[in-house]
Amino acid sequence: MQIREVKHPLIQHKLGLMREAEISTKRFRELAREVSALLTYEATADLALETVTIQGWAGDIQVQQIKGKKITVVPILRAGLGMMDGVLEHMPSAKVSVVGIYRDEETLQPVSYFEKLVSQIDERLALVVDPMLATGGSMIATLDLLKKKGCKNIKVLVLVAAPEGLAALEQAHPDIELYTAAIDERLNEHGYIMPGLGDAGDKIFGTK
Ligand code: PRP
Ligand code: URA
Repeated sequence: MQIREVKHPLIQHKLGLMREAEISTKRFRELAREVSALLTYEATADLALETVTIQGWAGDIQVQQIKGKKITVVPILRAGLGMMDGVLEHMPSAKVSVVGIYRDEETLQPVSYFEKLVSQIDERLALVVDPMLATGGSMIATLDLLKKKGCKNIKVLVLVAAPEGLAALEQAHPDIELYTAAIDERLNEHGYIMPGLGDAGDKIFGTK
């Protein structure tokens, strides 16, 4: 698995602001969107281009455009929705495939409850977004599902990853690329990332 901890100063600064205990829902949401947009910029740097001819102001002209079918963004509900708009800022025509998974608070096992994937997903690049990679269970279940549907080209974007989750993901899906704003220290006894962000879903939706 290719793991990229993106050390861009803007990303590091904004992620630092997100760690503030008393941050408002509005600010957390804004920063999640901004960091996601910056991660997207990094994660799409190697997209293939093709040359097409268009009619320019002075006649035909050759320009570059991104090759292949439109990308699909895959937010993992709920917290992944907090990253979706940041991705769409750079790729407003992307299609959205939604996967609903929550982590059982006792067992920490992923529980699937929803899926609505776009057509021809097997021909698209999937950008899977979820702010937190903790045990890795939710992400592994999502990638299992995407691969079952034939998806071959997958990149994962998270805000914070735990070493334990990275190891589990690497074991289950060694072929994917992962971009993260931070690799934190460890999981605590409740499966929360330390120092982490706390409960990202609660912070994005204002629930407690
Ligand atoms: C959080 C987070 C991930 C998952 C990470 O979601 O957004 O989906 O936990 O944990 P894991 O790596 O151990 O699976 P949560 O279950 O809190 O659901 P929510 O997004 O609906 O709040
Ligand atoms: N889910 C979160 O929102 N935060 C964590 O630290 C772990 C799982």
